[in-house]
Amino acid sequence: MHDLRVTQSRITQPRVAVLLRMSKLTIAIDGPAGSGKSSVARRVAAMLGYLYLDSGAMYRALGLKALRQGIPLDDEARLVALANQTHIELRAPTAEHEAVGAKNCVFLDGADVTREIRTSEVAQAASRLATIAKVRQVLVAEQQRAGAGGGIVMEGRDIGTVVFPKAELKIFLDASPEVRAERRWKEHQEKGDRITLPEVFDEVIERDRRDRERKVSPLVRAADAVLVDNTAMGIEETARLIVMLAQEREKELAGAAGGKP
Ligand code: DC
Repeated sequence: MHDLRVTQSRITQPRVAVLLRMSKLTIAIDGPAGSGKSSVARRVAAMLGYLYLDSGAMYRALGLKALRQGIPLDDEARLVALANQTHIELRAPTAEHEAVGAKNCVFLDGADVTREIRTSEVAQAASRLATIAKVRQVLVAEQQRAGAGGGIVMEGRDIGTVVFPKAELKIFLDASPEVRAERRWKEHQEKGDRITLPEVFDEVIERDRRDRERKVSPLVRAADAVLVDNTAMGIEETARLIVMLAQEREKELAGAAGGKP
């Protein structure tokens, strides 16, 4: 039985109330590990009063469940069955979770796994099971269902290419490998994880390679995605740039529909 469900709470209080009259776009943000997708996407969603969906959290939650059940990460049949029997819920973060950097709360079969899914081991497991087409089918269907109404910022690897190929705004977020590894390492440091910067660098490179080279839905910039390299930019600056692009897109769409810009 198909029991995968993703729900999330709308972020109700936009901190920058500049776009209240904007019609609801679908915004796809793709990019490699450490490119700042989660922080930026969440901030953009807050500014616009949109939903935020972290698709990577779904792959991570499933990866965690597979590790806990000892399912080999190349056992397609069991992993597909697992995906079909899994309930994943994404909610806006509690103050407690936000204080430790979580961008959302993740529930796996009803249990809070927000912290547990943020380990290197789970990230690698997620990246491995994400190479399986039938596992992706289950998760993608659920992502499409969750975002069907628009007014959503969804981030991942294949959002602009596969999940929402008709998204009105697509961003490909990137940064140098060194900066991306350093960002991830700082997150580990803040959590007290004992991992060195060179180790994090190697992990990030390995995961990128797998995510970019896999046969099914690889990480690739959609032809119509705007490339934003934020190597030398902060979260706030990057988010504001994307909000400006969203405003422009909205004006274009209003113009095309014959409305006033
Ligand atoms: O965004 P993240 O680092 O939390 O994602 C974890 C892994 O999940 C990533 O290495 C690849 C996979 N993933 C994917 O294949 N497609 C997505 N849309 C999101 C994540």
